Amino acid sequence: MHWLIRPATTLRGALSVPGDKSISHRALIHAALADGTSRIRGCLRAGVTEAMIRCVRALDVGVEIDRDASLVVQGGDIRSPADILDCGNSGATMRMLLGALAGQVDVEATLSGSAGLRRRPMRRAIDPLRQMGAAIVEDAPPITVHGRALRGIDVALPVASAQVKAALLLAALRADGPTTIREPGPSRDHSERLLRALGVCVVSRDGAVTLDPIDGLLPPFELSVPGDLSSAAFLIAAATLTPNSEVTIQSVGVNPTRTGILDELTAMGAWIEIASGREAGYELTADLTIRSSQLRGITVEGDNVVRMIDEFPVFAVVATQAAGETIVRDARELRVKESDRIGALVSELRRLGAHIEARADGFVIAGPTRLRGAVVDSHGDHRLAMALAVAGLRAEGETIIQNVDVYRESYPDFVEVLRRLGGHIE
Ligand code: S3P
Repeated sequence: MHWLIRPATTLRGALSVPGDKSISHRALIHAALADGTSRIRGCLRAGVTEAMIRCVRALDVGVEIDRDASLVVQGGDIRSPADILDCGNSGATMRMLLGALAGQVDVEATLSGSAGLRRRPMRRAIDPLRQMGAAIVEDAPPITVHGRALRGIDVALPVASAQVKAALLLAALRADGPTTIREPGPSRDHSERLLRALGVCVVSRDGAVTLDPIDGLLPPFELSVPGDLSSAAFLIAAATLTPNSEVTIQSVGVNPTRTGILDELTAMGAWIEIASGREAGYELTADLTIRSSQLRGITVEGDNVVRMIDEFPVFAVVATQAAGETIVRDARELRVKESDRIGALVSELRRLGAHIEARADGFVIAGPTRLRGAVVDSHGDHRLAMALAVAGLRAEGETIIQNVDVYRESYPDFVEVLRRLGGHIE
């Protein structure tokens, strides 16, 4: 499947975005481990969360869709699955399940997934789980976990990864003593917020989080998932770059560990209004209004990279339209996402006429550039597909993006929403 995009003259409207992917994953897996019936409103229904739903169902957890589209999860004691757990394209599903299953005595499961997922680094989760005593033999999928009693550890992670942290916190719930996880940067803290709301003792201090194990199971809960800022980022970028635009996105999650993109776009000169902050699902949400703006280049580095780790594909597109140089460094992690995002961005944005150079840990873009429509490829990466669509709205002539079916992994309404705002995408 491919998209054909034509330049946009104006984007206007008010809308909401689907539920946050990270919070949806956590809600599902914690509900699966809870003692009774949990209800998740506004859960993301997309490829990556269907993978989590499929896997927890295979562990004998009931997941039903209610009339109001909320998910009703019947958690409790999980059982060994009859078949391999298929995590699809979802790194979060695989890593979090590894953590959740490691301490389930008498449960045995084998996890695998798509060819793309099987190439992604799993040792970063497996190594600390082994330190806790987990019985995991393989270093890469398919990976078999034999649940057993775990010990609490104090571990320093070499890279900031919220997925690894989430996996270790799930394992730590069943360990024989407290577990402390130290990270080199401030990765998203959705697990900590949810666990605290469920009464678990989780203390965050000086870049470390410590969890005390619990007796028995988590309590069941009700949760409303905020809109996904990482999905909103495509619309924010499109509205910023398209002249005469004004777009409002309602009830978006604005957890401070995720808002790097808003801070950096604002620093570039983007007009973004953040209104009516509310709390939903133990998280902050707000309505965002974005208008077209003239931008200047900036440097993104250090902790701010972690706070916008999924937004670099669309951020790079924005940077092609900013005056001066935009430099991204400390972002080596981009090489092991759904694609090598540094390599893929450089090859595809150059086809559209951008001046972009790769660095080992980031990229440098010189702007502004007049982009020209061309044939580009998603590299099998949902965020690259949607970022290139935003570039297409700004490019002269027609842009064709190949292999775009993957966008359904995180944002199934993307095409419809872009059309509703006034974009031409077919
Ligand atoms: C996520 C954490 C990030 C992010 C991913 C979702 C999460 O991955 O890129 O899309 O839900 O914890 P890493 O933990 O690998 O940095």
